[in-house]
Formats: sequence, structure tokens, C-alpha cells
Amino acid sequence: MRLDGKVALVTGSSQGIGQSIADRLAKAGAKVVINYRSHPEGAEVTVKQVNALGGQCHMVEGYCNTERGYSIGADLGIVDDVRRLVTESIEHFGQLDILVNNAGIEKRAPFWEVEENAFDAVMNVNLKGVFFATQAVTQYLMKTQRPGKIINISSVHEELPFPNFASYCASKGGLKLLTRNLSIELAPYGFTINNVAPGAIETPINTNLLNNPAQLGALLKNIPLGRLGQSNDIAALVEFLASDDADYITGSTFFVDGGLTWNYQEQ
Ligand code: BGC
Repeated sequence: MRLDGKVALVTGSSQGIGQSIADRLAKAGAKVVINYRSHPEGAEVTVKQVNALGGQCHMVEGYCNTERGYSIGADLGIVDDVRRLVTESIEHFGQLDILVNNAGIEKRAPFWEVEENAFDAVMNVNLKGVFFATQAVTQYLMKTQRPGKIINISSVHEELPFPNFASYCASKGGLKLLTRNLSIELAPYGFTINNVAPGAIETPINTNLLNNPAQLGALLKNIPLGRLGQSNDIAALVEFLASDDADYITGSTFFVDGGLTWNYQEQ
């Protein structure tokens, strides 16, 4: 299989897009570290799904270890937690090849009402956490001289405005240029880094929208393919970017948005 022998860490994989990515990477043969902050029960669901896939028999101290998934609690907004997450992931499976920076949050408020702690929460998880997780993984890959793949789950809002979500847009815009910058710095070591930019995907981050028929209807009119995306639409691309087939791809953003980003029509 495409990812046989690889180990991946997927941040924020107790629900939504992260959960699908963990499942998909495991189906492609990888062992996966599942990370949660506030939903250990969701992480357990992911671990069970992943372990149900079985897999090759790895002999560990005389017994057949088919474990594919392992979960670690860590808050991506706290740098000490981020470093511990990376260290424990490497310790658990003995290696790390793929980092998927998926964890992300958004907080709705008009710009003039955004509180400092809300701004910090968004920036810490969406940008600072990605920065230091990537740094910790890079240090490990350099030391062990392994190739590596880093995939950031960004958003169409690394490009498009999103009124009432100024800090979210600032974090995703920052992620766009972080990826471009790191693609240059990391290339000599054989590490690639890319962004996947989802549009409106049916996940818990969108609960409010999904429960508001008027808002949902207006959004659907802007999506040329006429539907919300599913988590697996994102996970399929992540699997490809994590594989050797994507060795020559770095520094790019791939939109998975049903055509939303470039759709402007005069009525
Ligand atoms: C946000 C969603 C939003 C979607 C499309 C995503 O990045 O998390 O809340 O619906 O973009 O605007």
C-alpha cells in the first residue's frame, strides 16, 4: 500500500476532518498518532477505527503487534504540549514520517469586538502550534536524516476574506506564507510542505452554519458543485500528498472547495 511502513501524526483527529485523515492514512498502510485536546472519547473512536484495520504483524518482544493507532492528549495552543506530542509520537512508534497539522479553531465576532484572549486562542492553535509542531518534527527528521512530509490543513480563508472571522483569516493567511517560506528552507533536506485549503465541509466546526437553513442556502448558492464537502474529500488529497507520488510537490496550496474560491457571478 501507498503508506506502508510510514508513521503519521495527525493533530486534532478526535473529530471532523482530522478523524477522516487518520482513518484514511491508516487504510493506506500508515501507523497513526491521533491527537485530541478536549474530546478523548472522539480520539478513542478514531483509534478503534484505525486499529480495526489490522495490518502487518510487527513482532514486539515476541508478540504480534498489529496496533495502528495510538492517541495522545495535547493542546496545540501550548508550545510545551506541542513538543511533548511530537516526542511521545516518535517514542511510541519509533519513527515519524508524516505530520498533518490539522487542529484548528475559529471564533466569530465583529472585528471591533474581538477580545485579546479570543485572538490569542485562534492564533495559538492555528499558527503558533503549526509553527512549533513543524519545527519539532523538522529537528527530528534532520537528526535522523529521514525524508518527511508536512501537510497543513489551511482554509479557503488563507485567500478569501471571511467577515466576522478576522483572526481566523489572519491565522490562515499566515499559514499560507509560512508554508511557502518553509518549502524553501526545508527543500535541501528532502522535506516537503504543502497546504490543503478546504471550503465548507460538513464537520463540527460548522455546526452553527449547518443549523441555520437561510445561511446554509446562501452559502450553497456560492458553491458551483452545489454541495458541502465531506471530510473524505480532504483526506483523499492528504493521502496523496503524504505519499511518494507527491515527492516533487512543495510550497503549494490545494483548494478542495467545490469551486467556491473563484466563483464570482454578477446577478
Ligand atoms: C471555515 C468554515 C466556513 C468555510 C467556508 C472554513 O475554513 O472553518 O466555518 O464555513 O471555511 O467559508
